[in-house]
Amino acid sequence: MPVAPLLTSDPRAAYRALAHEIDAAIRGVLEGPSYVLGEAVARFEHDFAAYCGARHGIGVNNGTDAIHLALRALGVGPGDEVITVSHTAVATVAAIDMAGAIPVLADVDALTRTIDPRAAEALLTPRTKAVIAVHLYGHPADLGALIPLCEKHDLALIEDCAQAHAAEWNGRRVGSFGRVAAFSFYPTKNLGAIGDAGMVITSDEAVAERLRQLRQYGWRTPQHSELRGWNSRLDPMQAAILSAKLKHLTAQTSRRRAIAARYGEGLGDLPLTLPSVASDCAHAYHLFVIELADQAVRDALRAHLAASGIMAGIHYPEPVHLQPAYTGIAHGPMTVSERLARTVLSLPLYPEMTDADADRVIGEVRAYFNAPA
Ligand SMILES: Cc1ncc(COP(=O)(O)O)c(C=O)c1O
Repeated sequence: MPVAPLLTSDPRAAYRALAHEIDAAIRGVLEGPSYVLGEAVARFEHDFAAYCGARHGIGVNNGTDAIHLALRALGVGPGDEVITVSHTAVATVAAIDMAGAIPVLADVDALTRTIDPRAAEALLTPRTKAVIAVHLYGHPADLGALIPLCEKHDLALIEDCAQAHAAEWNGRRVGSFGRVAAFSFYPTKNLGAIGDAGMVITSDEAVAERLRQLRQYGWRTPQHSELRGWNSRLDPMQAAILSAKLKHLTAQTSRRRAIAARYGEGLGDLPLTLPSVASDCAHAYHLFVIELADQAVRDALRAHLAASGIMAGIHYPEPVHLQPAYTGIAHGPMTVSERLARTVLSLPLYPEMTDADADRVIGEVRAYFNAPA
């Protein structure tokens, strides 16, 4: 019998594992009173914000809107500079554009693959208003350096937690360290919807209130726009699905860590770099990203794995500052980001994977290097 392909992440496997709960959640919305906002959205906003240690959650259409509206709610707009990274999903930078602000891109640290605080500091100008720290791959950015940096220069710290649900810094889940944090629930994320979905969380009451207005035409009361806003409401069907899945997030994160540990043991002696974890962090392993010696080795290993039905991904093949749409974007030196684009490879990792699946990946990577198991 042919062996099923292993994907980098597999939202369909996530659905199958929880099909009864997800189907019931969908039915609950179909039979319920609200097809827009309402109880399902309010419950998920409350529960997810509480899970992350924040007081307020504001559900929006997707993670890009979450960053965009967070910037707007903080009063960041035209003429203001926002520092973030080039080694990220383009969404982070697109959201700064959507707010009318000016993106300025810093290099990442070679170990954590998240924003290098010294590189960010070197890019500060009198126009800098905010820093977006992307907790990339599920590893928290260096909050121990970023929090004092932002305090010292009176900058808003925004956490881009799209890949870091349940990751921890100093024993607390990410999302409560910045003024606001933005989450995506894109289907492949650690907490994934069955479509687009996102949320901003914050403990700042005034910012939360502005976000609730901005996501719905600037309304505080219906049909009365106090601010110019948008339509970016979290869909109740997605909220109900996410509430059902949230109950499993802690266990699923443990499972991700167990698979990562298995990869670490199985691959540790090979000529490749494993993800490292800073001593004050708990990794959420949204992705398990290894680094190879150079692009030729990376591409050859990827092709070898694909030939045996293992679909490894590349996150990300082109740093934002080198993409045609962003020609001329302001940025600092990009040595690490440009190297990572050539050398990273994301091995399959999702909670429904079995140990045998992980061993199959380990076996094929070892076979590529002619290293017996
Ligand atoms: C780091 C990062 N930021 C932002 C986003 C944007 O999220 P969404 O796709 O829900 O708009 C994503 C996901 O694509 C992401 O990975």
